[in-house]
Parts: sequence; structure tokens; C-alpha cells
Amino acid sequence: MTTATTGRTTPLGAVGTSHTRVEGREKVTGTARYAGEIPFADLAYGWLVLSTVARGRITSVETEPVLAMPGVRAVLHHGNAPRVETEYQGMIGPPDPTTTLFQTDRVAYLGWPVALVVAETSEQAREAAESLVVHYEQEPHDVDFSGDRPEARPVDGFAPGLIEKGDLEAELAASTHVVDTEYTTPEEHHSMMEPHAAAAHWDGGRLEIVDSNQSSTWVKNDLAKMFSLEPSAVRVRSEHVGGGFGSKGVRVHQVAAVMAATVLQRPVRVVLTRRQMFSLTGYRSPTAQRVRLGADADGRLRALEHRSVNQTSTVHTFVEPSAGVPRVMYDAAAHHTANLVVPLDVPTPTFMRAPGEAPGSFALESALDELAVRCGLDPIELRVRNEPDRAPLSGLPFGTRNLLGCFHEGARRFGWADRDPRPGVRRDGRWLLGTGVAGASFQAGAGPSTALATAEPDGTFTVRISAADIGTGARTALTLVAADALQVPVDRVRVHIGDSDFGPAMFAGGSMGTRSWAWAVNAAAEELRERLALGSGIPPEGITVRADTTEAISRLARTERHSYGAQFAEVAVDPATGEVRVRRMLGIFAAGRIVNPLTARNQLVGGMIWGISMALHEEAVRDRATGGLYAADLAGYHVASHADVPHVEADWIEDDDPDDPVGIKGVGEVGIVGAAAAIANAVWHATGVRHRDLPIRPDRVLGARAAGAPDA
Ligand code: MOS
Repeated sequence: MTTATTGRTTPLGAVGTSHTRVEGREKVTGTARYAGEIPFADLAYGWLVLSTVARGRITSVETEPVLAMPGVRAVLHHGNAPRVETEYQGMIGPPDPTTTLFQTDRVAYLGWPVALVVAETSEQAREAAESLVVHYEQEPHDVDFSGDRPEARPVDGFAPGLIEKGDLEAELAASTHVVDTEYTTPEEHHSMMEPHAAAAHWDGGRLEIVDSNQSSTWVKNDLAKMFSLEPSAVRVRSEHVGGGFGSKGVRVHQVAAVMAATVLQRPVRVVLTRRQMFSLTGYRSPTAQRVRLGADADGRLRALEHRSVNQTSTVHTFVEPSAGVPRVMYDAAAHHTANLVVPLDVPTPTFMRAPGEAPGSFALESALDELAVRCGLDPIELRVRNEPDRAPLSGLPFGTRNLLGCFHEGARRFGWADRDPRPGVRRDGRWLLGTGVAGASFQAGAGPSTALATAEPDGTFTVRISAADIGTGARTALTLVAADALQVPVDRVRVHIGDSDFGPAMFAGGSMGTRSWAWAVNAAAEELRERLALGSGIPPEGITVRADTTEAISRLARTERHSYGAQFAEVAVDPATGEVRVRRMLGIFAAGRIVNPLTARNQLVGGMIWGISMALHEEAVRDRATGGLYAADLAGYHVASHADVPHVEADWIEDDDPDDPVGIKGVGEVGIVGAAAAIANAVWHATGVRHRDLPIRPDRVLGARAAGAPDA
């Protein structure tokens, strides 16, 4: 049943067929419990107090009146909280000082955590926290982000800061067509449904944490380092997660719960409010991006520059590597890309679905649309003429790259061939109509993981891996992978996830979760099947096999491995009100082998919907006077809702990663990439006006029309 060359299970089995979520019934009936609602005996409740100034020093905390309030058991702050390690290498680097709570009297931004009130009930804790008086020595703050800040510096993050090839000015001068444009994207927030929540307690010398996270391995290892504990003395569980999108790593709620549980020697839970999440759980930095493209008369690129500036906090650096997009997508004789960072008195940004690619693709894929108009070329034809046969800067061969296949199939299904390229000429009553297209890519990586597969005496199988299902359907996908590797029906396999005691595993991030875990699950299950084939009986405790992919992943061939996509959008614009409605979207992807079409489609469509939201709705606005956000809640921060989401279709073409045992690449992030650009390009096609600043709000549409003639 397996092919000889790769050891891959044939598609005769479960992988590639649609399955509803194995925990779906539990979730829709409310029996699936989330971290904020799992009961504990003798539980106390912690409530965080955040700074009301954007920069300065805490001079005093008036704890006495609050300690006298009903039910209050403790007030932790920089003057009395347990000391922790603040300098260590965590799973993704050194800690953000935001998370190493209460170790300093410095306040780095508005919404900085200054105290934790612990009480017998959540209501008592909240009442007391809101009564706590904290005195500050306030200092002038600076939250004024722009692309022109002179202190902006290229910084290496998880992508290099600066990569330059060739003589940019010379190639621009030699170009027939030049585009030189600036784009901005605003501060955006993850806004997942389930707030961050954790309960911590000590159980016979072992620290137990029930959490909502994207990796129990990550949280366990980092907390062990922060609190100077043996890793084996910490257990983190996270069974169900109501969304993460990059925000649910190590955050203040876990640390606060551990500190309070340690001080009080009883279980303590800390749940963040939606407002607290706006300053404590990361966000996507605003970006200011300049793109310069130079092309020959036939549209072939000679010069490509992409420079992106983002903000970070003064205490920790996060780079939103938007200029990374052209390093994979397009080549040119002169190819300059830079990711620059400006530290300000703002919270630290973090990974948010397609970090870099989401804002970067908006700028680059918009600029290419502008270049196509200059060249008099169809935007898809422009991409055909600029399709590289090797990775532009690394020179590495591509693994599989089916970008043009996505454009081809998408154009056929969207009806692109009949498109009139002229802008501003189609009407449906009061609406102006237009269509737009953009390309997408996202890296396909894998991280080491361990998995346990057990043959039970009753003929069923149990798989254990510290994976995180943040809504992706990972648990279900792994069930299908295990069933195929074991060559048994799906209903004989149970997969348990979200427990650091199952051994180290990759985080749910970078679109690498399912691929990384499936690799380990596949390896453990295949080895178990081989063991069982030897024919010995199964003892009462079962037979367990453990697999660790560290070695196999280190031997991966060096190629540029990415998922690709082509995004198509049709919009209607009301010139009287400035309202933009997306009428339909189609995304065609080449994203490796699709394990579960039902949940994979859900991921891709979810990303595309977020692209609509990014293009038209989402924007967190910072108030220069206070340094905080206006309307830091889901009434003031607009995300696309049902009425904003029309017919959205996602599909894929054949693509199979030859280097992956299951053929997976990953679908978590590529769905948002290029989506906002496709919509912005469609708005241009509808109106003749370029929108280079997101979101494309009604006032911007009206303002641009009032400002004058359509631009080309
Ligand atoms: Mo994702 S932004 O890698 O959780």
C-alpha cells in the first residue's frame, strides 16, 4: 500500500478526502472546554492593571485600600513580585520584557502591565483592579510612526534586514517604464474570538498550566527558563484554542498566573479582556513601504526596490518583513530589499497571519498592477514575463513552484479573458465595477517534532503529539494522516494534542504546524505498523512507538519551498458614498498535498476574508496625545462580518512537495497573501483611482475622487 520511492502512503486512504472536525460535536454543543472555563478546586482569579501613561516610571502603588476590599488576596507589582530570569534564549529568541512581568518600574507604553490583583472571584478581582491607584512620573512619549523617521534602521528578524544585488539607479535609468510609489498599511490586531487565558497551579512540586496557546512546548520551555525550573517540572496543556493567528505564544497571562499561584500556593486563573489584548498580546505593525520598479518596453523587470518600515517598542524588536516578498516572487538585474524598524513608545508588535507577506504583498502586487498599466500589458501577462526559474536572490532551485498554474486556472474560472482593461468604464446602476488580480506566496517549512503512536489491545490506536489546533483542523488532519500510515479506518484512531508531556513539537505557526506534526505522526505510525506486522500480541498497556523528526528535517534538501496562489476579486464602488463592496473572490492555490479539503478550504477562505477585512475595514488608530489606541475594542476596530463577505471560493491545483513524507506544504497563511492587493487593484479598475493606503475607507474613496482626475 505504500509507494517504494518515498514511503508515502497512497491516496487510497483518508488523506485527501473531506472529514468534519473530530471534535466538532464537542465544540458546537459546548462540551469542549476552553482555558478560561476549566474548573479548578479553590481557584483564585487574577486581574491585570495596565498603565495609563505611555512612558515613565511607577513611583508608588497604593495597595493598602485595595487589599482591604472584599475577597482580595494579593496585589503583585514591581515592588513585591517574584524575581524571574529576564535574559534567556526562548523558543523564538529572547523574551519581550512585557512578558517578564513586574521586574522594573519603567513603563514602556500605554497599556503596560503594572499590577495583578488576585481575589476570590473574578468580579472582586476586577472591582479591586479598577480601584487600584498607581502613581507615575510621566515622561514625554513618541508614538508618531511614519516611513520618513530618520532613525529607521534595517534589522534582521526572522528574515534578513537588507539584501541588495546590482546597481539600482543605473537599472532604473535604463528602464523604459518606471513605477515609484509608496504604500501604507495600518496597525492591525489579531482579534481571535477566544481571549488569552491561563490557570496555573503547583501539584506536588510540578507547575501545571492550562492555557490557550499555539504551542505548549514553547510556553513550557520559556516559562521553565523564566522561573528557573527544570523543563520536566512544568506541564502546559492547551486542548482547545479559539484562534491564535500568531498572538498566542508566551504572553503576560501565563506569567501572571504562575506568579500568583506561586505566591498564594493555590490555583490562579488570569483571563485578558478584549481591551487588554489590544496592548498586551501583540499586533501587526503599521508599515510604510516604498516600491520602485523599472521594466523594459516588454515588461521585463530590470530594477526592483522594496523598502518597508515598521514600528516596534523601545524594549523589544519585532520586524514585519514586508520587503521579503520579492525575494521569492520576482527577479531583476538590480534587486534591493530592506526591512527597517523604528522604536517608539508603543507595544511590541508580533507575528500576525502572514507576517511580512500580508502587508508586503499589498504593496508589491499593487505596484506590479501599476507597472502593467504603464506597459500596456495584462497584469497576468506581466507576471508570466517575470516568472523566475530560480529563486531571485538565493539562486536556489524552487521545490515546486506553480504560481503561473494558479494564475492560469484562476483566469479560466474567474472569466479573466473577457476583461476590458480600461478603468472606470463599467456600471451596474450607481455602482462602478472592476476586477483585480494579485499573486501570493508563503514559505513552506517544517520544524522538528516528536509523536507517540500506541496500538491498544482493543484494536484501536492512540496518537499523542503536542500539536495545537488553533481552529485549523490540525487534530482532524493528523487523524487522517495516522489512519493512512497505520492502514486502518479513521474511526479506529484517536489523536490527543496540546499537552507538553507528549514531548517537544513544532508550534502552530508559519504555516508549518500540520506539516511538521504530520511528519512525526506519519513516522511513528509507520514504524508501529511495521512492529505490528511482526505479529506479536498486544500487551494490556499497548505497544507504543515514538518518532522524532529532528534528524530527518535536518537532512531536507536546500530548495526554495513555498506555497503559491493567485487571487481574483470583483468589486463594486458607489461613487456617491465611497462604499466599496467586494462582489466575489476566487483564490487558486498550489499549496502542497491537501490533507483534508474541508478544513483546508476553510483556512484558505478564512485568509481571503481577512484580506477583504484588511483591504476595507481594519485599522487601529493611535492617539498621539495619550499614546494609546482610540476605541480599542471590537466596536471601534472593524473586522469584516457576514454582510461584508460575498461569494468567496478557494480551490487548488495539483501540487505535492516531493521532499515531504506526506507531500504537505501548508495552507494557514497563503490565503491572506495578495488578497488585499487584488481588491485594491479591482478598486482602481472600477474607479481609475489608485488607493495606496489601507484600509480603502469611504472617506478615502470620496477624497480621492474629489482631489481630481483618475490616475493611470
Ligand atoms: Mo502565524 S502569524 O505564524 O501564527
